[in-house]
Amino acid sequence: MWKPEEKIKHKPNPGRWPTREEAEKSLLFTPLEHGPLRLQQRTWVPAMVPWRATEDGEVSRDVLDWYARFAKGRPGVIVIEATGIRNIPSGPLLRIGDDRYIPGLNKLVETVREASNGETKLFIQLIDFLRINRRPTAEKYFQRYLKITDQHRDFFYNKLDDAQIRIKLAELNDEALVEALSAREYEAYAFGYRERVTDLELDHIRELPDVLPNLFAAAAGRAQQAGFDGIELHYAHAYTMASFLSARNTRTDGYGGDRAGRVRLPLEVYRAVRQAVGDQMAVGCRFLANEIIEGGSRPEDAAYFGAEFAKAGMDFLSLSRGGKFEDAQQPKVGAAAYPYTGQSGYECMPQFTSDAQGPFGRNLTATKLVRDAVRKAGFETPIVAAGGIHGFEQAEAVLQSEGADIIGAARQSLADPDWFLKMKLGLGDEVRVCAYTNYCEALDNRHLQVTCNLWDRIDRDRPDVPLSSDGKRRLVAPQWQLPEA
Ligand SMILES: Cc1cc2nc3c(=O)[nH]c(=O)nc-3n(C[C@H](O)[C@H](O)[C@H](O)COP(=O)(O)O)c2cc1C
Ligand code: SF4
Repeated sequence: MWKPEEKIKHKPNPGRWPTREEAEKSLLFTPLEHGPLRLQQRTWVPAMVPWRATEDGEVSRDVLDWYARFAKGRPGVIVIEATGIRNIPSGPLLRIGDDRYIPGLNKLVETVREASNGETKLFIQLIDFLRINRRPTAEKYFQRYLKITDQHRDFFYNKLDDAQIRIKLAELNDEALVEALSAREYEAYAFGYRERVTDLELDHIRELPDVLPNLFAAAAGRAQQAGFDGIELHYAHAYTMASFLSARNTRTDGYGGDRAGRVRLPLEVYRAVRQAVGDQMAVGCRFLANEIIEGGSRPEDAAYFGAEFAKAGMDFLSLSRGGKFEDAQQPKVGAAAYPYTGQSGYECMPQFTSDAQGPFGRNLTATKLVRDAVRKAGFETPIVAAGGIHGFEQAEAVLQSEGADIIGAARQSLADPDWFLKMKLGLGDEVRVCAYTNYCEALDNRHLQVTCNLWDRIDRDRPDVPLSSDGKRRLVAPQWQLPEA
């Protein structure tokens, strides 16, 4: 995992908790209304994949329990994890690529409604992603995957036949392979093959602008049928739509290049979704305030995109940071690259070992820049901030200084799903504060059921506590007893 050079160890710093009266008067616990976005409070649990769906991508009992637990803390919004819009197998990640998923998702909506007493709005994050393969063994790569070309024949002075070339390449060290292979071939060998939106020579990549608006719109229609209150289009991190927005998108078909070209497909997808669900359902997107990677989009690009999304009519804009494949670390043989292992990954989910700023609020300056641009363009579109927010004073200061309109807290809500409610009731001293260890993220990296080490060993022996597949960890945070009124 990439870490900043300084390696200062930061302790969580939630600051002073509010009294019940202070919480009541705060912006954080004030309702927010903007078109179909009607929230009882400005608190938000951003999408987090917990690896709990069935192998077929269906809502499971564990998925219901996981979101019901967040709902008990009654945040303004919970965004359901990145949910695949295609009807293709993707392991235990939620899917919405077919009507058969509607009944399970409807159960999820009802479960959250009941657990939050109707106070929490439920949104779903819709994702498309391109193919990424696991890192192959050298033998497999050179014997089976590599297509022998003239570059390889030339490298061996045209003295070897193709079968001999495969054998010889497998004997070379990495330094020599960098010379012998093209950059993409070397990447496929050393990291695993990964598709890009710029692979215009592949039919299904060239045709993405033709197929994605319909795929997203159909998925959004299903989400509406299932009863969700809102749609969050996943335009962030390492996935297809973020790659269209990226400054690295050099497509030459009008869907890349300058900012207007890069935002074209995200706008077309949004319009198709809006058409499918009408204007009574909240639709917004999550995108990157800064890609972090070399040659990637910067806050100025995000400011432009934010104003375009607002102008198109999105109901909210949620900002994230980094989380890209381009600077990911090399995976072990048999594993796939994980987009949260390089510097951009660090900036997406910063950890307690950090530079002077620590893991707290690293995306706030860029988020404010985007918000200012949206306001300057004449739109009141609410902006969601996230990243290292774990205290009332910090959250309230962001809102008061017009840095954002809604406060997202992912890991802090995982550490303590009741934390918003505790703050609201003036019981902040009872909050279990996230230590930003990224134990949870490491589980995500290994595709294991995500839990928090602050609570996953508590009361494991109780018969009513569901355990992870290895039997070692409880799957949801212990219940918190609301004090008698
Ligand atoms: C286990 C885990 C899974 C995540 N899955 C998603 C996801 O599905 N979609 C997404 O946009 N962000 C995802 N994130 C990123 C978070 O939403 C959030 O942006 C990030 O953790 C920084 O916010 P925080 O400091 O409040 O945790 C995930 C984070 C974690 C820890
Ligand atoms: S495991 Fe718990 S304490 Fe550690 S970062 Fe994740 S939520 Fe925070």
